[in-house]
Amino acid sequence: MQSLITKAVPTGVCIVTVRAGEKINGMTVAWATQVSFKPRLVAVSIAPPRFTYGLVKESGFFCINALSENEMKLARHFGFKSGRKTDKFKGIEYENALHGSPILKNAFAYLECEVKDIFPSGDHDIFVGEVVDAGEIKKDARPLIFRWDDFFGKK
Ligand SMILES: Cc1cc2nc3c(=O)[nH]c(=O)nc-3n(C[C@H](O)[C@H](O)[C@H](O)COP(=O)(O)O)c2cc1C
Repeated sequence: MQSLITKAVPTGVCIVTVRAGEKINGMTVAWATQVSFKPRLVAVSIAPPRFTYGLVKESGFFCINALSENEMKLARHFGFKSGRKTDKFKGIEYENALHGSPILKNAFAYLECEVKDIFPSGDHDIFVGEVVDAGEIKKDARPLIFRWDDFFGKK
C-alpha cells in the first residue's frame, strides 16, 4: 500500500535544513510541495519525533534543498540518522541562506522559508512556510524522484 501511494503521488526528494542558534541540522523529506502562488507558500510534512521538528519550531525558518538524481547517497545520509546523535554536517559543504539556514553545495536549488502555520496531520505536522530566499545552484539538473522501494524496500 505505501509503495503504491508513493507511486500515485510522485514527489522529489529534498533535504530540509535548519539553523537554531548555534545548532544546524538537516533531514531528508519526500513530502514537500508548493501550496500557494500569492504569497509563495511551500508546505513540508515533518513528524514530531524528528530532531529537525523542534529546531524548525525554535528557529521559525527552514530551507528546502532540492536533490538531483545522482544524490541518493546524500539523501540516505540525511534520512537514516538523527542529528540528535550525530553531526550530519561533518564533512558537508554549505553556505548560509538569508536567515542562516544551511544551503547544501550539492543541492541544485534552494528555498528558504519563514514558518507561517503548523497544521497537525495524522502522525506528521505540516509546516507552511513563505519563501523568503531562493536560488538555483546548478542549471539543468534532473530531480531525484522518490521511489519507496529505493529507500525502504518492498512494502
Ligand atoms: C527518502 C526519505 C524521505 C523521507 N521523508 C520524510 C518526510 O517527508 N517527513 C518526515 O518527517 N520524515 C521523512 N523521512 C525521515 C527522516 O529523514 C529521518 O527520520 C531523519 O533521520 C530525521 O532526522 P533528524 O532526527 O536529524 O531530524 C524521510 C527519509 C527518507 C530516507
